[in-house]
Amino acid sequence: MSFKGKRIVVTGAAGFIGSNLTDKLLELGAEVIGIDNLFSGRLDNLEDALKNKNFEFIKGDVRDLNFLLDIFKDIDIIYHEASFVSVPQSVKMPSSCNDFNVNGILNLLNAARKKDIQKIIFASSASVYGDSPTLPKREDMRRLPLSPYGVSKLACEAYIQSYHHVYGLNGSCLRYFNIYGPRQRDSPYSGVIAIWIGRIIRNEDLIIFGDGENIRDFTYVKDVVQANLLAAEHDIGGEILNIACGSPITMTNLAKLMLKLTNKENLKIEYTDPRPGDILHSYGDMSKAKKLIGFEAKFNQEDGLRDYFLWYRKNYNVDLNVN
Ligand SMILES: NC(=O)c1ccc[n+]([C@@H]2O[C@H](COP(=O)([O-])OP(=O)(O)OC[C@H]3O[C@@H](n4cnc5c(N)ncnc54)[C@H](O)[C@@H]3O)[C@@H](O)[C@H]2O)c1
Repeated sequence: MSFKGKRIVVTGAAGFIGSNLTDKLLELGAEVIGIDNLFSGRLDNLEDALKNKNFEFIKGDVRDLNFLLDIFKDIDIIYHEASFVSVPQSVKMPSSCNDFNVNGILNLLNAARKKDIQKIIFASSASVYGDSPTLPKREDMRRLPLSPYGVSKLACEAYIQSYHHVYGLNGSCLRYFNIYGPRQRDSPYSGVIAIWIGRIIRNEDLIIFGDGENIRDFTYVKDVVQANLLAAEHDIGGEILNIACGSPITMTNLAKLMLKLTNKENLKIEYTDPRPGDILHSYGDMSKAKKLIGFEAKFNQEDGLRDYFLWYRKNYNVDLNVN
């Protein structure tokens, strides 16, 4: 499928993943309408996109039905990346998380239905698996989300599948596993890699919640963008796919790798109490995404981290010696 001339809505376009996806779609010749309420996103993520005549940014909230109905004209694909995104914040504010995510998807699906939009690709999360003991996580296994964020993502998936079943709406869900890369910034609610790179730059020791044996499947954002393109190219309405690197790593080994790649092996790794809502182990079985959309991650963790650190050094002009 060619993206040239396709009219595509990206919700959460000013966010980390949404802006990376927007840039790629524009590079492929699509016309992109970016929607964001700027709750956690930033317009400077769209600095390049805003210079492109095929891009329009509209500030607004996906929970506002009339706002969506005004925008949804002749749209081919919606990528729904807008979300309340932080697990720890969802533990503090479960009702807000539910309002953003569940009311957001319902509005979006209702607007898409009214405007006869054929394809919706939803950014779900591995947090829906929670602490179910089986590893790797398979799409068809039991889901036991721990955090309100995970529960909200599971509810969104269920609505997408329901609208597919009941109204024939062509929605699919990509369960992302711990994404990192350019435009992910060091903030208390960021992913751990962005927090640790901030600490490395400030010469601070790295802190791990728990004993460091937790396993994660960190996935580079360029691979996630590629998965989103493939999902649009294939007929996968109603399906749910894991999107992960497929190369699990313990938190201690991740910390050691980051210190090695930045020549900061003098910094220490400290361990503290686990956080409520955090999952013990999480890595994905990638056979379904490979079979249905031909997705395989191109970046292993070392290559992805190096690419991210080089971007970080160039964009923030920081003193980072990348190996
Ligand atoms: N980053 C990860 O590791 C990860 C992992 C699993 C799933 N996800 C999912 O991927 C998607 C993108 O996440 P991200 O990491 O880029 O986060 P992000 O916070 O950078 O992006 C989310 C964007 O959505 C916007 N937004 C939030 N609520 C909105 C609303 N009601 N209306 C309009 N805009 C709204 C925010 O302002 C922000 O720009 C989210 O759905 C997230 O749950 C991310």
